[in-house]
Amino acid sequence: MRVGISTGGGDCPGLNAVIRAAVHTAVSSHGWEVVGIEDGLQGLLQPRKLVSLSPARVRGILPLGGTILGSTNRGNPFSYPVEQPDGSVVATDLSPRVMDRIRDIGLDAMLFVGGDGTQAIAQGFRERGLDVVGIPKTIDNDLDATDYTFGFDTAVNIAMEALDRLHTTAESHDRVMVLEVMGRDAGWIALHAGMAGGADVILLPEIPYHLDAVLGKIAARRRSGTNFSLVVIAEGAAPADGDVALAEGARIGQARRYGGAAERLVEQLREAGEEDVRATVLGHIQRGGTPTHFDRMLGTRFGVHAIGLVAEGRFGRMVNIRGTTIGDVDLREAIGELKRVDPDGQLVAAARSVGISFGDG
Ligand code: F6P
Repeated sequence: MRVGISTGGGDCPGLNAVIRAAVHTAVSSHGWEVVGIEDGLQGLLQPRKLVSLSPARVRGILPLGGTILGSTNRGNPFSYPVEQPDGSVVATDLSPRVMDRIRDIGLDAMLFVGGDGTQAIAQGFRERGLDVVGIPKTIDNDLDATDYTFGFDTAVNIAMEALDRLHTTAESHDRVMVLEVMGRDAGWIALHAGMAGGADVILLPEIPYHLDAVLGKIAARRRSGTNFSLVVIAEGAAPADGDVALAEGARIGQARRYGGAAERLVEQLREAGEEDVRATVLGHIQRGGTPTHFDRMLGTRFGVHAIGLVAEGRFGRMVNIRGTTIGDVDLREAIGELKRVDPDGQLVAAARSVGISFGDG
């Protein structure tokens, strides 16, 4: 058996744990061969992008961030951006080319490690007859078919530590500190980091905010003798009377890029009379560096389970975790729904109980 593995979409702490676990299980337990496809599925569109993955090749990668296979956001073969002779770029279906290459390489099955976009691509290839298994990854933790994705825990810990550091500087200078974290459609990182890091205000994509409510919280703290405040804002959070803040320059084939939510809020707060306000944008620091224990464990368990599915011939599945149990779901179920923060759920209620404002009243 020859199994291919690729990592798609944004990098994510824990990807190397998945690769390592899949290689060890496939080679040591089953005697199979594992082929790494480099640079996401672009590696199947170009020659010389394959790497033979032996246990020796994956030695030492468990604590490493990123992915040894490389990744890309531009690799959707079903609508690949192809430059035309006149310079225009047209989204083109290159999946037949990918299927030919997979046949040429002699792959019996493919593991697709990635977020919702990559899982949708996996499902597309399944419909064309390829034996596929999906492994979910995203620091955003917004896939509905699994309780957790690896990368999330690391990102939350980094954001929490940033808040701890902003806390002491905010307190020393009697300042309002605004921390922008990732999370386009779902505010899980903001919510978890904000609660764990003692934020006073958390602004989420799921709860449109009102500037007056944010100002009210800051003023109430000042009245009670606390002259600083910590605000966490998800990049996809928007005011009730406005839109999300988008970055300039996203290209065809790429997801929309968000940016500017914290800066916009800081400007609004200043215009409303808050003078000493600062923005910090955490950005890709949340995705870089060594994974936490939780993410290494989850990545390892996902990799082992994925190879188990291949061994049982159970294709078209995506591995997941429910509670503490690793399992799997049909890929079609996996790509159906985003998991978003429930504004009326337990977590938000607990946050409100400890005095956190969501800028909504
Ligand atoms: O989906 C993961 C994620 O990190 C989002 O939280 C963020 O909006 C996006 O990727 C950033 O993408 P890029 O690395 O392409 O700028």
